[in-house]
Amino acid sequence: MISTDGRKISGKQTLGAVVITGASSGIGEASAICLDKLGYQVFAGIRKNTDGEQLRRKTSARLTPLLLDVTDEASIIAAASTVSAALNTVGLVGLVNNAGITVAGPLEFLPVADLRKQLEVNVIGQIAVTQAFLPLLRNAQGRVINIGSDLGKISTPLRGPYCASKFALEALTDALRMELRPWSIEVCMIQPGIITTPIWDKSIALSEDIWSKLPPQAHNLYSSALSATIHAVSKLRKNGSSAEVVAKAVVQALSAKKPKSRYVVGLDAQINIWLSKILPTRLLDKLILQYFGLPENPL
Ligand SMILES: NC(=O)c1ccc[n+]([C@@H]2O[C@H](COP(=O)([O-])OP(=O)(O)OC[C@H]3O[C@@H](n4cnc5c(N)ncnc54)[C@H](OP(=O)(O)O)[C@@H]3O)[C@@H](O)[C@H]2O)c1
Repeated sequence: MISTDGRKISGKQTLGAVVITGASSGIGEASAICLDKLGYQVFAGIRKNTDGEQLRRKTSARLTPLLLDVTDEASIIAAASTVSAALNTVGLVGLVNNAGITVAGPLEFLPVADLRKQLEVNVIGQIAVTQAFLPLLRNAQGRVINIGSDLGKISTPLRGPYCASKFALEALTDALRMELRPWSIEVCMIQPGIITTPIWDKSIALSEDIWSKLPPQAHNLYSSALSATIHAVSKLRKNGSSAEVVAKAVVQALSAKKPKSRYVVGLDAQINIWLSKILPTRLLDKLILQYFGLPENPL
């Protein structure tokens, strides 16, 4: 096997150990498979043993499924001690904070418990996991790679909870990058645009559940906006990039001599982030509302 920098890797040698959260599907799964192929020792975070077994069928025996729910403190502690025991004093070269969910709905009526759940998984969970694995990252001067989104720079209606989580992750990533600088522990953010993964169908299922809990007034006020958004999003997702494209960015962030602080993935993400920087807020609002076919004036 040949490593990313051209070195030959023998059977027992690896490029170092990496933990990836949320590796049961989509970007996490693609990253786990890609890093395993390159010769990393991957600890792949999953929540169901069956997902670990499925992943193992697609990888070398080097990959270890790791039960890890990022919202469950006991699960995080157990996962960190499993990895620590397996690595002894060697340490981790990377932690990929990838696990995520999408909560959507009108902020006026969104049950606060659902907003909490969104932030618990996509924000608090990322930091809780990072705290648990930092001692191991220190041992190998490893890197933290957070999977953000272009929606960490541009917010859209009815997806406020998700956008808030990715905006928050941007801030935490910047703070962490500066805090860990004295120890040369790099912290990078990956900002994908639309990627074809199961998250879209899961998001629709979650939204339907939230929607069913909302009062009739919410339905009267927001159902046409919801239908327009679902229609626009279902068109958007057809042009998504593959999860493997994001996996490549993860590899770059992990293996580059001098990693970038941000890796934007996809032309759509590049355009959205650029627009968020150059357009006045009101004009950006107008464009987004038009794009999603949403009313600009009160109903
Ligand atoms: N797809 C896109 O268009 C896109 C764009 C930008 C950014 N992203 C980000 O990319 C990341 C991966 O998303 P994806 O698109 O690959 O979606 P996905 O296929 O749905 O993967 C999400 C992963 O997160 C896991 N997860 C959910 N809740 C968890 C929890 N409490 N603890 C541990 N793991 C949990 C899921 O595990 P289970 O199978 O057990 O639920 C799954 O493995 C997310 O952070 C997402 O926000 C996605």
